Amino acid sequence: MLNIALPKGRLGNKVCKLFEESGFKFPGMLEPGRKLIFENENLNLKCFWVKPFDVPVYVERGAADIGVSGKDILMEREPDIYELMDLNVGICKMCVAALNNFHDNPARTLRVATEFPNIAQKYYSQTGRDIDIICLRGSLELAPVLGLSDVIVDIVETGTTLRENNLKVINNIADLSARLIANKSAYKFKSEIINKILKGLSEYKKL
Ligand code: PRP
Repeated sequence: MLNIALPKGRLGNKVCKLFEESGFKFPGMLEPGRKLIFENENLNLKCFWVKPFDVPVYVERGAADIGVSGKDILMEREPDIYELMDLNVGICKMCVAALNNFHDNPARTLRVATEFPNIAQKYYSQTGRDIDIICLRGSLELAPVLGLSDVIVDIVETGTTLRENNLKVINNIADLSARLIANKSAYKFKSEIINKILKGLSEYKKL
């Protein structure tokens, strides 16, 4: 049996539909409920919902053979896995954003609020800027508005959340999208079924 970890939430629903439309169906997976594990008995596949940040952990440690993770999470966690395919869904950017009237003072330590401390640290170390990272769990846009931070490092999709809170992008860090990832030894020993999934997904994407 091949174990597949999908990220629970908006992105996971899109990816689950993509799997279904490519011929890999998991009955009941998109219905409301608290069930976490779903099977496709004909193809010998098991699919389960995990928290988006945890997908690379399941895959790296082999509890899942393959999974789908946002590139943001892969950049943040740097797991030892294979990145097999860009699924071209969940397209967005990792950005630095600040209040519309923000003026940087390079002489001062920059206070950066983020859910992605490693990405922020790496980005600012390349620029040689001293930063103070403030780790938050969501609704980052509040931090500059309330004076908790000078900037945020966060995901921007449509830009609506920034606009509605008087913020703007000041730097782009990376383009992001969902990636199909594989456990390194599963990719070797379960290559037949993994390649079948890769082929199914890429053929569907070309339609
Ligand atoms: C993400 C991100 C931004 C928002 C960007 O948050 O952290 O807040 O989406 O989307 P937009 O550019 O289309 O407005 P999410 O909705 O996942 O919730 P969170 O704030 O709890 O992380």
